[in-house]
Amino acid sequence: MRPSVLGSAMRPSASPLVSRISMLSRPSHSSRRCLAHQATATPAPAPAPIPVQPARAISQLLKWKPEQNVDNVVVHGYVRSVRGLKAWRFVSLADGSSLDPLQAVIESGLAEGLTVGAAVRLTGSWVASPGAAQSHELQVREVKVLGSSDAKTFPIQKKYQTPEYLRTLPHLRPRTPLNALLLRLRSEAVTSLTQFFARQDFVQTHPPIITSSDCEGAGEVFTLNPANYTAGQPGKESADSQDSFFRSKKYLTVSTQLHLEALAQSVGNVWTLSPVFRAEQSDTSRHLSEFYMLEAEMSFVDDMNSVMDLAEDMMRQLGTDLYQSDTVKSLLTRTPHFGQDLAPAEEVDRRWQGLMQPDWPRITYTEAIDILKQHEDKFEHKPVWGAGLQSEHEKFIASTVGKDRPVFVTNYPRDIKAFYMRPTRGPGSEDPSRVTVDCFDLLVPELCEIAGGSMREHQLEPLLDIMTRQGIIKSPSETASEDDSGNGLQWYADLRRWGCPPHGGFGLGFDRLLSYLSGVQTVRDIVSFPRWYGRCDC
Ligand code: 4AD
Ligand code: MG
Repeated sequence: MRPSVLGSAMRPSASPLVSRISMLSRPSHSSRRCLAHQATATPAPAPAPIPVQPARAISQLLKWKPEQNVDNVVVHGYVRSVRGLKAWRFVSLADGSSLDPLQAVIESGLAEGLTVGAAVRLTGSWVASPGAAQSHELQVREVKVLGSSDAKTFPIQKKYQTPEYLRTLPHLRPRTPLNALLLRLRSEAVTSLTQFFARQDFVQTHPPIITSSDCEGAGEVFTLNPANYTAGQPGKESADSQDSFFRSKKYLTVSTQLHLEALAQSVGNVWTLSPVFRAEQSDTSRHLSEFYMLEAEMSFVDDMNSVMDLAEDMMRQLGTDLYQSDTVKSLLTRTPHFGQDLAPAEEVDRRWQGLMQPDWPRITYTEAIDILKQHEDKFEHKPVWGAGLQSEHEKFIASTVGKDRPVFVTNYPRDIKAFYMRPTRGPGSEDPSRVTVDCFDLLVPELCEIAGGSMREHQLEPLLDIMTRQGIIKSPSETASEDDSGNGLQWYADLRRWGCPPHGGFGLGFDRLLSYLSGVQTVRDIVSFPRWYGRCDC
């Protein structure tokens, strides 16, 4: 039988942490002196091999402060730095689970191959640390280098490296503590959102990435060409010719909304978190060419407030779920070291608090213009009814109207919004020179628009009318099966021919939201492999 090396409070059954840590039947070592002695003593007979279970969570180890030494603790990680006196090496070990590294103390004779960047397995005793920087440390008795690293050429260092420099190394950047934290934030956000929608009985769906149309009509689609397509060469396949791969032009989706509408007509309320692509030549901190959009579509809903309620409840739940998490606590209590790359911690805290507050303001576009006009000397662009809100306008509205809460701005002019939005009816919408649509943008300070949504025109005749007027379809009479116009949106009109209830939905820029909630100053640094105008590194 294997002798137990744990005190009763640390038996595997007593602590979930302990079950993640390997227990090997080796003699215990409780001090560095003992370790040193062991290194020079005659080797004991080799113990029977015992399967080693991965013990990756350095974050859990760092929280574990046993009063007695615990032997035979195994940890996997990457060497972040090595400091050394003659006889001992002090290794900072990270595994992406916490901002802080684990300190491992290793006799120099065992430290061969422990170079910065190396992937290692360390086995030793978890003991109270005499150093002030950590409560406990690992006194290592066995080192296994599982993936060596040439420290001289490894570009990631423990010292501060600028976001601009790290962006040139997208394949290695995730190994920095901040980027690992952002990966965890993203993962936890997806878990929270998935649970939210499941509780609301929304069906998660997978709409297509390759589409026939430009949903937003903004001309920002990427065209999909076979690799052997060469423009203008006779005899070569052309992307829009009959013998091309799909027999007509296809694009990468800019929004899955139109397909979600079709799916909502099957199962009611649907959502998805999908990559979308936009060929915008916008060189800003808010624009990516590939980003994730969370989209939801609600069926049998006539009042746009229900759609805004959904967006608001979803984000408030996200705030409540994550605010107390270790990940968000780390973001809010980070050392000044990261402060240079992030919005100040107090500001980020205010954003989370704002997210959790009830009753986010809802004002109309017309009201927003009136507010802006009262302060027009503050703006480079004059606020004018009928024109889109500039980012300086959105920032002003978000910070003055919302304070720390996000703000819904509703009912924009029809002429500056997408074709599918339902015109506003009822009191206040009589002026034919000021036709608006039932839509909203959700604004936050700094990032501006993080979500946009609308009620969809669900009646066939008005939809065909606007689609024909905008040249989206050639003729209002055809169904998709009769349509040979090749512009790919007759099917969308078809949805109105056979049982189309009132419906509406929204799309949330997931990367913008994560930027806002982490304090990361540009969306280019919130995604691991950013693509934007002129850049797609690997
Ligand atoms: O406002 P948008 O264009 O809305 C739609 O696409 C609707 N069809 C969504 C729907 O109703 N289902 O895009 C939604 C959000 C924006 O509010 C913004 O946060 C984000 O997507 N977004 C971008 N994020 C990063 N980079 C870009 N280039 C973005 N363009 C839009
Ligand atoms: Mg928008």
